[in-house]
Formats: sequence, structure tokens, C-alpha cells
Amino acid sequence: MQGFSFSHATRRVVFASGATDRLADLAREADASRPAVVMDGYFADQPLRARLEALLGPGTRFHAVPQREPDRAVVEACRAFLAESPFDLLVAVGGGSAMDAAKVARMLVSNPGPLEALASPAGVPMAGHPSRFVCVPTTAGTGSEVSESAVVAAGPGESYKLIFRSPEMAADVALLDPELGLTAPPAVTAASGFDAVTHAVEAYTARTASPFSDPLALAAIEGLAHHLPTAFARPDDLEARAACLVASTQAGIAFNSANLGLAHAISGALGALHGVPHGLANALALPWTMAFNAPALARQKGETIARVLGAESAAAGISRLRRTIGLDLALDDVLPPGADLDAVAASAARSGQVRFNPRQADQGRIRAILEAMRRPTGGRPPTLP
Ligand SMILES: [Fe+2]
Repeated sequence: MQGFSFSHATRRVVFASGATDRLADLAREADASRPAVVMDGYFADQPLRARLEALLGPGTRFHAVPQREPDRAVVEACRAFLAESPFDLLVAVGGGSAMDAAKVARMLVSNPGPLEALASPAGVPMAGHPSRFVCVPTTAGTGSEVSESAVVAAGPGESYKLIFRSPEMAADVALLDPELGLTAPPAVTAASGFDAVTHAVEAYTARTASPFSDPLALAAIEGLAHHLPTAFARPDDLEARAACLVASTQAGIAFNSANLGLAHAISGALGALHGVPHGLANALALPWTMAFNAPALARQKGETIARVLGAESAAAGISRLRRTIGLDLALDDVLPPGADLDAVAASAARSGQVRFNPRQADQGRIRAILEAMRRPTGGRPPTLP
């Protein structure tokens, strides 16, 4: 057995339908008198805001994060909000954008200085913040509620994203309430759900996967394969929402240690260079990267994924799942005409995720995968030339 390292910095995961109400207990438990909430802007004028105020107390301060993926400006605005007044409880409510912005901004309060000083894919030492930190994901999802990392767009024209990593950044409590996902429209369910699928599949097949991450990653693949199509087709199906939320958190714990792979390397480049939303970029890439990875996974994890997905191969199952949730996408439909695919391949090849991929991929191979991604699969098994 090869050596491995597994860490899980989030001390508690709480799941229940209506678990949001537990915030009142968590605030009491933390003896919190100065709560702050960072929430997805989508909820800023929704009843959830008043509910949070009722649970946490009238002195609760609120900050809304724009719905787009966080960039410097979003994180700096969040830092300014947190630095305005001391806080002893921070609650981040939303998708990956709100949680990642809150995670990084909280570290900037305890580690003052420029944003870049904390950015490094391998992580830099960070001083912890004394507040209790609770993450409440509203989508399934990024897994950010249990990961020690966060991603922030570097800025317009930059070919990379800033990556932050430290156990100090992780939430103390991940509070999973599937009721919060009931209002997510199908397109959001599909895109965020496919991000979770990609986390699960890439964590399971990464070179740094371990006997600790594998069971979580595999359970996540199974849960998402069975329940994501239902959550997509019937948005108010609470059991399907619950299964997807639990699976995305399992995938988050798995990839926190096992890392990711080539699909995330490519989706990171597509996001940084062309603003392709993260979930859609993963949906574009994963069938093809799994077709590319097939030789490295033959008779082992590839077969296990295929069996769980009920397909002839892992790539075929992922291609079919993608089509079932309306994500049979073509690169040509999301990139501007004449987009420089060589630049995308170069950026992906420089990503820190490539080295965890089960099969070695250089810029030339990534360029070939991007070429294949230009057309949809129609749900059929993807075959690379
Ligand atoms: Fe992701």
C-alpha cells in the first residue's frame, strides 16, 4: 500500500432537514455575542435573512456576497465588512462563492496584509481567528463547508486562480440543511451538482487517493448518480436534495485530502481565461478526461465507477449522467469564436491539479482533449482520437 495523508479540519458535520434552526444552539454554545453573517446575495432580500437574525439575535451584522464566483473585489469587500467590528461567530450561508469569500476574508482579518501573501496551492502558515465559524451550504455543491481550501479569481485577463489552503481556514461546523436547496432552479442544481460529481470522481481516482478518502468518494459518486437526476427533474424532492447535499459534503472531505485531477485543471483554466462557470466547465471536461484516464484505471477504479453508474465504462456513465441533467455541452457553445485553445491548454498544464491525475497529461494531450470537448457527446461514450 502506498503512503497517504488524510486530514479533516472541520470538527463537526450536522445534517437535518431544518438544521438551520440549530444556529441558535451553536451561538449559545459558542457564547457568541457579536455574530456576523456572510451570505449569498440571492438570499439578501429573502425570508432567510430575517430567520437568521431571529436565530442569532438583533445585533447580527450581515454582508451580501455577489452570486458570481469570488474575485479580489468580492473578498476585499468581505474583509472590510469583517474588519469593521469584532465578531465571535461567523456564519457563511450560500454556495461556494459566499463560503470561499468568508473563509479567505476571515483569514485576512487574523493575517493582515495583501491577499496574495496568503495564496499558495500548497498552503502557507496562517494565524487562526478566534471566532467560531459555521458554514451552511445552500447548494450541493462545492464541498467548501468541509474543505481547508478556497479559490478566488485572480482578475481579468489572468490565466490562473488564487488558491488558499490552511486548516485554520476550515469551518468548525458544517451545517447541512437540504431545505435551503429547495428553491434552487434546475440549472443551478445541475451545475453545482456536477461540480460535486467531479470532486467525487477525481478524488476517487487521484494518485493521492487513500483508504480513508475512497469510501467517501465512492459513496458520493453513488449518491449523486442516483439522486442528482431526481433533484434536477423534481426540484422540490427533499430526499433527493438531502442525498445530494450529503454526497457533496462527502466528496468535499475526500478531495480535501485526495486532491483533484485533470478536469479541474481544465475547468480552472476555462474559468480564469474565459469566465466559464465552474460547474459547467467541469461538465464540459469530465467525460473526456475520464476517457483519457481510462488506461490508467482499467480493471480497477474505472470498473468500479462504471458499475456504480451502470454503464460500460466510467466515461460512458459520466457522459450519460451529464446529458440526463441537461449538461451535454460543447466547448464551442461557451467560448468566443476563435478562442485560443493553446492558451487554455498551457494554463491547465500549469495547474497544480495535473500531478494528481491518474494519467500523466502534458500540454499537447490537454490540447487534444480540448479539441474533443468542442462537440457534445449526445450521452454516448466519449472516444478520444
Ligand atoms: Fe470544483
